[in-house]
Amino acid sequence: TALADFIRGLPKAELHLHIEGSLEPEQMFEFARRNRVDLPFRTVEEVRAAYAFSNLQDFLDIYYQGANVLRTEADFHDLALAYFRRVAADGARHVELFFDPQTHTDRGVPFQVVADGLMGGMAEAEKTLGVSSSLILCFLRHLDEDAAFATLNMAEPYLDRILGVGLDSSEVGHPPSKFAGVFKAARERGLKLVAHAGEEGPPEYVWEALDVLGVDRIDHGNRALEDEALVRRLVAEGITLTVCPLSNLKLCVVDDLKQHPLKRMLALGLKATINSDDPAYFGGYLAQNWTETAEALGLTRDELVTLAKNSFTGAFLPPEVVARHV
Ligand code: HPA
Ligand code: ZN
Repeated sequence: TALADFIRGLPKAELHLHIEGSLEPEQMFEFARRNRVDLPFRTVEEVRAAYAFSNLQDFLDIYYQGANVLRTEADFHDLALAYFRRVAADGARHVELFFDPQTHTDRGVPFQVVADGLMGGMAEAEKTLGVSSSLILCFLRHLDEDAAFATLNMAEPYLDRILGVGLDSSEVGHPPSKFAGVFKAARERGLKLVAHAGEEGPPEYVWEALDVLGVDRIDHGNRALEDEALVRRLVAEGITLTVCPLSNLKLCVVDDLKQHPLKRMLALGLKATINSDDPAYFGGYLAQNWTETAEALGLTRDELVTLAKNSFTGAFLPPEVVARHV
């Protein structure tokens, strides 16, 4: 369609993408075969049928299970490269991608295997596809802060090649303040700070991410709309929200894409962006998120251009690089 072509042609950045969430069922079988890992599924169709989630935890259980096939540096390299091929075709020029080291180190896959594999895939993508990227290391918030500190220490030799740290996994019951110490340590190391907040958790978690962790960006942030003072704060400070519409639909954060708050966020002056979160699990990569959201909400061309600009000005890129894209 004309809309889909317009969206593909807009230079865009993706700022909320979990690389483990780009593991397609076909690739899950391939990695399981080459690593001799048993899967509880026999066919791709069985896997896809299992992707019916009623909340975040439902999804996380199957997402961590899927990640179990990732074992070697080649797996992480291939996973990243396959994602970049898709997002390059969607018109993405830059990606700031999340990875979850604890999901791997807790099963005996060394941090270096994960980081070297991903960084190799990212370098190849930049060279062959022209998509630049950086890594954001996420701490799993259902684990304790000591485990997050251990992960930051493990990452030490790589920190000059890691853009920042984030916070993901089960939100409710695991407020940002649980990680105040490790975020302070990360800031002292010169890392950028982001956190998932207000996806399922209350507006208070968004306040904490800002005031206790001092984050530079909020991942999701949907529930910030329940608090007018918080909206004013986010607008005044120009804080970017990395919104993920198809994720919100699949995890029942919204009942219908037509009820998605993205258009309202823009009208309120919030600096929202569109992202895919875990595209292999949620039904679409970057352009699919843009197109379905634009259709459901009747986004105008001006709004789409604003969203594309937000994706670059909200990225952690030097101003001269941002200027090349907007
Ligand atoms: N929320 C929290 N944790 C996650 C997500 C998400 O959307 N995706 C992958 N880990
Ligand atoms: Zn996410």
